[in-house]
Parts: sequence; C-alpha cells; structure tokens
Amino acid sequence: MINVAVFGYGTVGSGTVEVLMNNGDVIEGFVHDRINVKSILDLRDFPGDKYESRIVHDVDEIVNDPEISIICETMGGTGAAYKFTKMALEAGKSVCTSNKEMVAAHGAEMIALAKAHNCSYKFEASVGGGIPIIRPLETSLTADVILSVCGIVNGTTNYMLTKMDKEGADFDAVLKEAQANGYAEADPTADIEGFDACRKIAILASLVYKKTVKYEDIHTEGIKNISARDMKYASQLGRKIKLLARYESNNNIRYAIVAPFLLTPDNPLYHVDDVFNAIKVTGNMLGEAMFYGKGAGKLATASAVASDVVECAKNIGKHIECELSEEVVSFTDLDVSKKRFFVRVGAEVTAEAKAALPVEEEVKVGFYDEFAFVTKKISEAEFEKAKNELGTGVLNYIRMEDRE
Ligand code: HSE
Repeated sequence: MINVAVFGYGTVGSGTVEVLMNNGDVIEGFVHDRINVKSILDLRDFPGDKYESRIVHDVDEIVNDPEISIICETMGGTGAAYKFTKMALEAGKSVCTSNKEMVAAHGAEMIALAKAHNCSYKFEASVGGGIPIIRPLETSLTADVILSVCGIVNGTTNYMLTKMDKEGADFDAVLKEAQANGYAEADPTADIEGFDACRKIAILASLVYKKTVKYEDIHTEGIKNISARDMKYASQLGRKIKLLARYESNNNIRYAIVAPFLLTPDNPLYHVDDVFNAIKVTGNMLGEAMFYGKGAGKLATASAVASDVVECAKNIGKHIECELSEEVVSFTDLDVSKKRFFVRVGAEVTAEAKAALPVEEEVKVGFYDEFAFVTKKISEAEFEKAKNELGTGVLNYIRMEDRE
C-alpha cells in the first residue's frame, strides 16, 4: 500500500480524496499497488464527513510519518503552502499540486529541492484543470521548436464571457454562478483581472523555454471592462471575445500576454465555451495541436492531481525529471508585436481618434454616443501612445486575433 496525504480539504482537496478513493481499482491497475489517503491536513474539523477520522491539524504529524510517501498540495497561495511543500520535499515526500501560484512563483525551486531529496514535484493540475498539458509539453512535444502556446486557461472568465455573450447575462450575476460552481478562486479578482491566467501562461512558457518566466513580467489585462456593448460589437464583427493567454516566439519576437481578444470562427479557440479551457500549441514541425477539456471545478482538477499521484507512486524513491531551471528569462518584445485593435471612443473625440489611429473599418451597432472602429495593423507601442493621448476618451479596446 502507498500512503498519501492531502494538504487542504477544500474544493480540489476533497475532490482529490474522492478520485483516489473511488477510482482505487483503476489506479491500482497502473500503479500495481493500492493508494490510500491516510491523512488530510486542514485547520478545520469536518464533523460527519466520510473521512473525518483522517483529518489532522498539525503538519508535522504528516511530514514525520514515514508511512506517507506522497502529498497532494491543494491549499492554494504561497504562504503556508510554500512552507509545507518545502517540509514535505525535504522529508523525501513527492508533492503533487494544483496550486498555480506556488508553481508560477517557486516551481523551479521546488523541482530542484525535489531532485536533491530523490522525490518529485508535479503540477499537472496547475494549468487547464483536468486537461493534460504539462505532461505533453514535457514528454510528448519534445522534438519541435514551440512557436506559440495560446489558450483559454481560466474557466471562470470563459464561463462568464460565454453567458454574457449567449444570454446577455449581467457580469456580477454570472460571477456569482461561477463561484457557486466552484470554478472561481477564493478571491475572484485573480480570475477577473487575468492574474490566474497570467500565472498559468508563465508556467507553460517556462516549460517551453526550460527557464523561469516571471509572471510579474507578463502584460496582463482582465475582463472587467468587457460590457454588453462590447458583446454587441463582437457579434457585429462575427467574432467572440475570449480571454487569451499567449506566448509567442516567432520571427525573432518573443513575448507573453494575457488579454481579451476578438476571435473569428476559423480559430478553434472561438468554439471553446463555458468552463472549458483549451490550449493550442504550435510547433515548427507539428503545426497546431489543441488540448481541450474542463479547465476548472472539483473533480476535473482533482483528476489531474490524482494522475500525478499515479506517476509519483510508480517512481517512489526516484526523482521524475522536469527540465525547468531557476534562471529567469524575460520576454520583452510585446511593444513591437503588431495587431489590429477594436477601439471604442466617446463621440466627442471621434476626430482626435481618427487622427491618432489608422482606422481600417468603422463598426456600427446603433450607439450614437460613441465611435467604434478597427485599426489597421499597428504595434502595441503605437497603440499605447495613441491610447494615452486620447485618455478617458477611450471607452474600451480589444485586440483582434487574426489568423495569419
Ligand atoms: N479559478 C480557476 C479558473 C480555477 O477559473 O480557471 C482553475 O485553475
């Protein structure tokens, strides 16, 4: 029997216990041993819970338990989670985590620590919920130069944008639904402002680049400015608004960005709705491959944590290699990258907007208090300069995702 402990009995933690215990037979088929959840660390008690007797409140009890060889860290954050993960790895226990904040901020450090103690640090659940994307990047797409990774990696905002688009739903009401479904972060600002997606693309870009991409360096815009009016314009343009997280490394330009984009139906990401996530990877030989699935929620995410447990269980006493060094790289070429922008300005600054930006196409949906248009292809720096000149005259802008 292989004993496992879970740190944090919240949505994903309880889901992980459920997956490991309920799917014990299928897991045993891969591991050739039984997985048992021996202890669950949480500050709270869970009276009446099926696994109430396994709850412990002291991390030392688990870290010093020689029978436990794998930890599932589903606490979130980088406070106690950082301290407890280090303690577990230093004790030679592999850690499988869904905690993208930890992986984005300390992933390379934890991998190095795991290597030094003959155990592993695994994080399949940190990006894309239940979608296998970390393992394919590490072990399958290894013969290609990866030119771009572009995805919808936040389930909450995709759920919200889909409902706003299809049902004309109100931003706050639909956010509450996403929270009730267990998709949103404890503080949904991380979803809405794009920080969650930013951490996830930092993790993916780091794996592609094999060096640490600091999430703080990634230009990040969320969806809080997206309104019912934007949805109308998007529909008029025959496009959908999606929060994209993208890493580009092409034509000597390398950058990462998280922002809402307007997508055409010929882009496979256009069709990714509700809580689903998808990550499109482009390789120089492979072309495009897309990974699609449920990007948030209890059991989908737990399934990915449990899959890491299976891998660690098959490698007890060994380090599973992950090529990701602590050396930091920064991608600085966003300013020179070129795109078209959809822009809405107040009607009173129409002339200034036309002077500041090259208008390719006007977009009309019957709002006479504003002027909306699509620019010609310009650089981010040119757009930023014009936006600053127009100041509060700019009501909103969204980048156009154009398939080359
Ligand atoms: N809040 C995250 C999301 C959870 O909505 O995608 C999964 O990482």
